[in-house]
Amino acid sequence: MVTPLVPGTGPRTPRTTRRDGALSVWPGSTVPLDDGDLAVGGVSLTELADRFGTPVYLLDEAEVRARCRVYREAFPEAAVLYAAKAFLCRAMAHWAEEEGLGLDVCSAGELELAVTTGFPPEHIVLHGNAKSPYDLQAALRLGVGRIVIDSPSEIARLAVAVPGGSRQKVMVRVAPGIAAGGHAKVRTGTDDQKFGLSLTDGSAHHAIARILDQPRLELVGLHCHLGSQITSAKPYLAAVRRMVGLLARVRDQHGVTLPELDMGGGHGIAYRPGEPALDIAALGPRLRAELADSCAAAGLPVPRLIIEPGRAVVGPAGVALYRVLAVKRTGHRTFVAVDGGMSDNPRPALYGVRYAPRLVGRATTAPLAPATVAGRHCEAGDVLAGEAELPGDVRPGDLLAVPVAGAYHLSMASGYNLVGRPPVVAVADGRARLLVRRESLDDIRGRDVGL
Ligand SMILES: Cc1ncc(COP(=O)(O)O)c(C=O)c1O
Repeated sequence: MVTPLVPGTGPRTPRTTRRDGALSVWPGSTVPLDDGDLAVGGVSLTELADRFGTPVYLLDEAEVRARCRVYREAFPEAAVLYAAKAFLCRAMAHWAEEEGLGLDVCSAGELELAVTTGFPPEHIVLHGNAKSPYDLQAALRLGVGRIVIDSPSEIARLAVAVPGGSRQKVMVRVAPGIAAGGHAKVRTGTDDQKFGLSLTDGSAHHAIARILDQPRLELVGLHCHLGSQITSAKPYLAAVRRMVGLLARVRDQHGVTLPELDMGGGHGIAYRPGEPALDIAALGPRLRAELADSCAAAGLPVPRLIIEPGRAVVGPAGVALYRVLAVKRTGHRTFVAVDGGMSDNPRPALYGVRYAPRLVGRATTAPLAPATVAGRHCEAGDVLAGEAELPGDVRPGDLLAVPVAGAYHLSMASGYNLVGRPPVVAVADGRARLLVRRESLDDIRGRDVGL
């Protein structure tokens, strides 16, 4: 009997309905105030910027929790692991745990932060295509629930590190040969990228055979993660069929019935009004039905399903606030430069992601006009929103808010130009509280220890 990763419990509350129009991608609590201001979680964005400075990131706690509950509702019998790479701080780990989610982590750093704040290690899965010895030692020392093996060389290395007399639960990351995802750089289900072991060329099956020979490793299931920003259920259903096919081969050739199947994350969200998002409430029953049908056809018991959403839990709960520092009109373009940029949000530069920033805190009747919202960094490619629509009278001192800023911004933030990473503030019930403080020059100086 395999210990369940996450008990199928937790609060169950349906998510509030989304509004249409310009605020459709904002947190559900967002309301317009007088003078062009907006409130999120009952907190005025202008007041928040005045109190914490800019750039600043806010997270709507109720929105994060509501999104966790949508998953618990849609996947009542599955283990839902929040993918910490999207954004992690101690409060986020607490919210995920309180809402009945486990965690997917990718490093000793993510793992230690979660465990030292009280997250149960047995509800954590460790990933990584190149785990360092330190990552593996931390995972074993802290008693992580599962380690997902991603390369042949990891098998023996992990097996010798497991203390004698004990066994570590592991899974195998499979590349099922399915192309899905919003950009070539985030497609991870095919053979031409670095993650996983190929189902097509037999590497996955070969690794499984080797793991089954290791007495200190207990293979509990298979894993795949197709990619990110997937907005249709179809690739997941196709992947379920292929993964069940592999489970059946393992049963046929080794006499082993693996009890778990982890289908990863990658659930797409809308960054701008009108963009598609994956319907999570519909995905749950469809995945479940496909899994039941495929297993029945293969004569297999239905394995415990695991999913790993990151972006869809935290992305739409975040808003980034910037102050406009300069407005430059060149030819047909208007550049609106703000006090943050690629050091707090590298996504536009990495994948050409598009956002819908909005002027807040000043009422204006000026018609909307095309604008390029640029960052402050020393790269011409430091553009946060290339096709924004802002009031034609936008000027230095204005406040710009970028919705859907909760995932893969600060977790990918860099030290470029030593501007310091922005703070993270939680808003809930009309109150704002600091979760992560701004990175100061003292923090930066503190690491600089040699002359
Ligand atoms: C193994 C794995 N699981 C889950 C995720 C989360 O993906 P998303 O945030 O798109 O849901 C990722 C993202 O890279 C991943 O690599």
